Amino acid sequence: MSSRGNFSGRIGFILAAAGSAVGLGNIWRFPYLAGANGGAIFLVVYLACILLLCYPVMVGEIAIGRAANSDAFGSYSKLGTRRWGYLGLFGIMAGVFILSFYNVVAGWAFGYFLHISFGDLLNHQDFGGFFGAYVNDIIDVSSASGLANSNLIFSLIFMAVTAIIVSQGIQKGIEAANKIMMPSLYLILLGIIVYSLSLPNAMSGVRFYLVPDFSELNVGTVVNGLKQAFFSLSLGMGALITYGSYLSKKENIASSAIVISIADTSVAFFSGLMVFPLVHFLAFKLNIDPTQIGTQGPPLIFVVLPQIFSEMGAILGRVVGGAFFLLVCFAALTSTISLLEVPVAYLVDQKKMNRKVVVWGLALLIFILGLPSMMSQGMIASLNKLTFYRGQDFLTFIADMCDISLTVGGALMCIFISRQWGIDKMDAELVNGNEGYMQSRTRSYLHFTIRWVAPVLLGVLSLLIIVEKFFGVENLL
Ligand code: PHE
Repeated sequence: MSSRGNFSGRIGFILAAAGSAVGLGNIWRFPYLAGANGGAIFLVVYLACILLLCYPVMVGEIAIGRAANSDAFGSYSKLGTRRWGYLGLFGIMAGVFILSFYNVVAGWAFGYFLHISFGDLLNHQDFGGFFGAYVNDIIDVSSASGLANSNLIFSLIFMAVTAIIVSQGIQKGIEAANKIMMPSLYLILLGIIVYSLSLPNAMSGVRFYLVPDFSELNVGTVVNGLKQAFFSLSLGMGALITYGSYLSKKENIASSAIVISIADTSVAFFSGLMVFPLVHFLAFKLNIDPTQIGTQGPPLIFVVLPQIFSEMGAILGRVVGGAFFLLVCFAALTSTISLLEVPVAYLVDQKKMNRKVVVWGLALLIFILGLPSMMSQGMIASLNKLTFYRGQDFLTFIADMCDISLTVGGALMCIFISRQWGIDKMDAELVNGNEGYMQSRTRSYLHFTIRWVAPVLLGVLSLLIIVEKFFGVENLL
């Protein structure tokens, strides 16, 4: 075991897994999905998805990884057959594709951090125009503030930092980085919340965020909630199998998974609590109705928030805005390291390759794989409007395909546990570090959900997601 590396203990594992979970999905996607899907009602659906579907899948994945003590491919083939190994490989590929576009968005956030803290971004008048130009021209190196506008360079740096951390191994790299970044992330988040709640009109934002709108409850809300929950908890593609394989038998998986889920959900919830008071503060300042501020999609953090920071005045805007984008970078980085670790573990375990060589080779390869996503934001017209994908851009296409693969992967994992590996074997794994497990309610609950509820619901909802994506029947849902 020691030759593969391992986490030093429970805290290290939980911080790393929570770090994988907490990411762009929480800070950027959750608030706007909640805003667009009925506020508190979305939160309720989201929590139901976690309880009924995500928690059992999380426990299952960690148990598979720890029992097999191997990467995603190795774990499925060791506990099942080589054919099942391909499910692991499918997850590894999904991880590679997620990282390819995720790193592009992380690069945007890194660039914004630099431009707000050290440049003159907040002096711009037209934030929408700035963002459009920024993501469009990926190699623009001319900037008045002396900072390159180059996305290409920012995301290259982001990938390099990810690679440096992962190349240091599990304890000295991944665990150490998470131990610094995760607590800092919480501190920055809480700091900005306190500040944003003190702004004029903040309570109107809180009300908008937290008062449920039941008319928004429909199948679409459930599908969105589930997709978001799977992505946010890093499920269905082997990240937790891989991290689980570095976990000691002494630790309690069932309770660790609860802590990880709570850590992730609280950051998503708090991000909304940070964002909506800010948006309503802006509406107050500009004397407009908050609904006139477009909080949908990517523009929320890259267009609306910078405008808010600029309203705070030169110094305060720089400090709060800089802190916000640093928070986004930390959140993204703790996720990119887990995404890179998945294929790295595969090549190190299966092909017995040198860790450092694998890390740098894969980082470069995945960076190149991300170039079409990077160039799909306006630079290359045909990538910006895919004819076979309802005129959507390539980055959205890849992100959507990854969303689908996660819920499908989760459904197949449940089938793997009950039909191939054996749910009694999972039990045997979960008893390690949790002596009372066999008599616990958790056990009956996991059996019921993993055997019946999760595969059926995840199967049906995955089909709905596929239909929605390819045929655009959002209105039907
Ligand atoms: N959970 C991360 C987020 O919310 C994304 C992610 C997905 C990371 C899958 C690893 C694996 O941003």
